[in-house]
Amino acid sequence: KALRLEDYRPASYLVDSVDLRFELDPAATLVRATLAMRRNPEADAKEDQLILNGKHLDLRSIRLDERELDTDHFQVDDEHLVIEGVPQAFTLETEVIIHPEKNTALEGLYLSGGNFCTQCEPEGFRRITYFPDRPDVMATYRVTLVAQREQFPVLLSNGNLVAHGDLDAGRHFAEWEDPFRKPSYLFALVGGKLSCLEDSYTTASGRSITLQVYADARHLGQCAHAMKSLKQAMRWDEQRFGLECDLNQYMIVAADDFNMGAMENKGLNIFNSKYVLAASETATDADFQNITSVIGHEYFHNWTGNRVTCRDWFQLSLKEGLTVFRDQEFSADMTARPIQRISDARIIRGPQFAEDAGPMAHPVRPRSYVEINNFYTLTVYNKGAEVSRMIHTLLGEKAFRGGMDLYFQRHDGQAVTTEDFVRAMEDASGIDLSQFRLWYEQAGTPEVQVERHYDAEQKRYCLTFTQSCPPTPGQPRKEPFHIPIAVGLLDRKGRSMHLQLEGESRAKETRDRVLSLTRTRQTFEFVDVKQEPVPSLLRGFSAPVKMKCDYADEELAFLAGHDEDEFNRWDAGQQLAVRILLRLVDDLREGRPLHADNRLSDALRDTLENPHLDRAFKAQCLILPDENYLADQMDVADPSAIHHARQWLREHLAADLRKTFLNTWQDNLEADPKQVDAATVGRRSLKNACLSYLSLLDEEIFIELCANQAQLAHNMTDVLAALGILTHRDSPQREEQIAAFYRQWKSEPLVIDKWLSLQAQSSLPQTPEIVESLLQHEAFNIKNPNRVRALIGAFCQGNPYHFHAEDGRGYAFLADRILEIDSFNPQVAARLTTPLGRWRRYDPKRQQMMKAQLERIAAREDLSRDVGEIVEKSLASS
Ligand code: ARG
Ligand code: ZN
Repeated sequence: KALRLEDYRPASYLVDSVDLRFELDPAATLVRATLAMRRNPEADAKEDQLILNGKHLDLRSIRLDERELDTDHFQVDDEHLVIEGVPQAFTLETEVIIHPEKNTALEGLYLSGGNFCTQCEPEGFRRITYFPDRPDVMATYRVTLVAQREQFPVLLSNGNLVAHGDLDAGRHFAEWEDPFRKPSYLFALVGGKLSCLEDSYTTASGRSITLQVYADARHLGQCAHAMKSLKQAMRWDEQRFGLECDLNQYMIVAADDFNMGAMENKGLNIFNSKYVLAASETATDADFQNITSVIGHEYFHNWTGNRVTCRDWFQLSLKEGLTVFRDQEFSADMTARPIQRISDARIIRGPQFAEDAGPMAHPVRPRSYVEINNFYTLTVYNKGAEVSRMIHTLLGEKAFRGGMDLYFQRHDGQAVTTEDFVRAMEDASGIDLSQFRLWYEQAGTPEVQVERHYDAEQKRYCLTFTQSCPPTPGQPRKEPFHIPIAVGLLDRKGRSMHLQLEGESRAKETRDRVLSLTRTRQTFEFVDVKQEPVPSLLRGFSAPVKMKCDYADEELAFLAGHDEDEFNRWDAGQQLAVRILLRLVDDLREGRPLHADNRLSDALRDTLENPHLDRAFKAQCLILPDENYLADQMDVADPSAIHHARQWLREHLAADLRKTFLNTWQDNLEADPKQVDAATVGRRSLKNACLSYLSLLDEEIFIELCANQAQLAHNMTDVLAALGILTHRDSPQREEQIAAFYRQWKSEPLVIDKWLSLQAQSSLPQTPEIVESLLQHEAFNIKNPNRVRALIGAFCQGNPYHFHAEDGRGYAFLADRILEIDSFNPQVAARLTTPLGRWRRYDPKRQQMMKAQLERIAAREDLSRDVGEIVEKSLASS
């Protein structure tokens, strides 16, 4: 039942144009599809059998070239419609009934808050009508929507509105035409009561585009940031990539019930409302930044995804990896580059490396899958973005841009492969990427070990790198990767030295360069090195690898205080913190008394007191590596010891740096609650980071401060920062503030998600009971994916201390929820399974309990393909 990349065959029949008519009714919607089809000249088998995809469709009639087909000319099963003896070219008309109201999987046509909306990627279109539902079949679409005007005044689809008007019995209609050929996964429709924020954008070439953001009337005031982000994204893509918007009208719709983040449907993006709606009273600074990045992401898909699309779903990273790279670059330009890079790297080194090391590990271009929805992963998206970024690093901005230009020149309007992308990059730059291609093919995280040698007499300095990559399912042995390693060498004063490799002329002055590691073991020799340097390695996180160097603690502290590369400066502090924390974990496990280490305090004090560093950067330095990341650094993860060690270190730092934290907090108190520009956001993040340390001191005043901030601040970042502190404290203030927050925000579901999460992530002993009881709370709704992630996701992934409780109840809790949710929304259920799949990382007792829950899930009859694939792979022996 697994599909394999090598089994790809071109479609037997193509669709040139599609005419769709929807009679929208929540209980029973009639869909009439008229497809102009013809045999694909590229198809190999010369058969006259037409196979269309279709799922949960209630077939009413089929006409072939206007003749009604009777039942012996076709067969229907659960997933297909098969018609025998079709001609070379023909028109196929089908009528089906679908049931949007009963669609709880949120795939295909469904209802969200009483409005119709769709999600077709990757294979949702087959739940709307019979169709060759694969991305290499591209057609133009004309869509007629008919509905009750009163209940569904707004009727949208892709492209341009070409007609609209009233019909009988209170109905009206709208007709849309999309001139661009597109695969079925980019189809969308929306119908309902929505208000719209409208604006316009003039492209570089002077065309005017109507921009519309649709949301519930009461949320219209929260759409301005999304609109602003959209305009910024449009300008940015023109300037950086010379890509202009090709539409007359660009629409964004906010939906409350949405499985993922957002969807790039041509001209009609549908978004999880979480990535559209924001006001400083209701959304955090992080929410604002996420909106900018997701709005950018979906907009950038218009070229990387829609104009040039994927041949098949194995190529998913062709559009996703590249588009994430583009949205990261956009965000970096809109805020601060090093901060953006730190957040990108956190995702890769945390959950993506964990994915690479787990049962679902797969290459950026997977070789096989059972359920494609399970492959919308951190590997395909974020590691895929790193792969695009490495090409950018190896080629440089100019040649990379040349490669992009060539890619569009060659493939505009086509459905292509990652190979086509790499070839365009190669052809435009003349750089050989043959070994580099392994990044698409081999799964797992490469490890690079560094040895250093300084020859004082010869003034030579050698860096020797050894790379390896652990086995992953189906790939026991790996070939060496082509790894770009950006390096600098720091002298004793912390200045970057001139870099000249053996055999090179001194011509170009460089203090920062990229080494290409291509062999298993390879030495780079620098000449004319006047003193023994401290190497700064993998600057800017130039490759998604684990870099291992035997730095002394002093060297890490030195890098944390001096590296010119801000990313590595932050990283050196993190590495030092990891070491200290892992030693504390050991001490705790062995029952030894815990010792303070002043190196980290000193480094943090220097950072905080350094007037040249950015506030947002300082705030990042104050965040200790999280518990999940620390668990990944241990041979056998010990969630409880990790939690206590980290807590102990935070308390120790608070005491050590009390004065500095207090001064910094005071200096940054004035952060305008209404502003969300980078400078204000930096102030807010820094003062709140300081407050979270100060609250750990045994001083009631800071708890009072938090309670006041939670109650009085008019900015959600400030309110949540305070509540995020209080949630871990067993105090009357906690209960009061949590209750008050609920009273104030109970009618704003996105704010209530924050309320659920902060309780789910509490370290208090009663948290598991609180989480159980929140399942019954009026604010919780298990059918809504955002609520599920906010409560169940936050507890099981964001609270490892409680999730991994020794009695195993966290595991049973999760398994119960997975089984419950799988019966109505398999995609969401499958995503929740990840933490159980990590069972091999724990001690034998926990392993056994986690496995038992996986087995319990696996034993369920009619388990979805989604959950089935993940539990099966999680339990597989290798
Ligand atoms: N293409 C969308 C994006 O990257 C994601 C859609 C995925 N949806 C799904 N059901 N797997 O923005
Ligand atoms: Zn995407």
